[in-house]
Amino acid sequence: MPHRPYAIDEMISAKAIAARVEALAKEITQAFAGTEKLVVVGLLRGSFVFIADLVREIDLPLEVDFLEASSYGDAMQSSREVRILKDLRGEISGRDVLVVEDIVDTGFTLHHVVNLLRSRAPKRLEVCALLDKPSRREVPIRATWTGFEIPDEFVVGYGIDFAQRDRNLPHIGKVRFTERAAG
Ligand code: IMP
Repeated sequence: MPHRPYAIDEMISAKAIAARVEALAKEITQAFAGTEKLVVVGLLRGSFVFIADLVREIDLPLEVDFLEASSYGDAMQSSREVRILKDLRGEISGRDVLVVEDIVDTGFTLHHVVNLLRSRAPKRLEVCALLDKPSRREVPIRATWTGFEIPDEFVVGYGIDFAQRDRNLPHIGKVRFTERAAG
């Protein structure tokens, strides 16, 4: 029995991710220079690896908070209905906020989260997304910073899952269904 019923083809190497994370962190550090304390908000669960690497490269006083929004569940399609499953612990009113997202796909999740957080009157709110699939967009929204633009492929690794699997891959790979798995 194979470890998983599909194959994974490497799309972005761990080395390329690390280099890009470092570059993004430099830009973020410059953009928020002088902040009293940045609130870095990770969207669970897909951003947990990215946020861990990113904050360690950001040279600013910061704190980390998390928000969980429902999106795909265990499916490969966005549900289009976004629900907040876990809200922030802290207040963001009057604060500098950076939202960290794994992938912007249809844009429904980010749109919902940004509207919600903006309604709490932060001083400034920007978004950093590791991946962007612009060809899939249904809601017109863009992250302030994007790690990589990718084609319309289902990807896993570096915190990103397929039905909760493969978050632990160090690189990002695209899922390829083998004939046997496709049935
Ligand atoms: P959106 O609301 O359609 O933009 O969906 C965004 C969320 O869907 C991301 O935060 C991911 O959790 C999930 N997602 C989108 N594309 C993929 C993918 O290729 N692999 C795994 N999860 C994905």
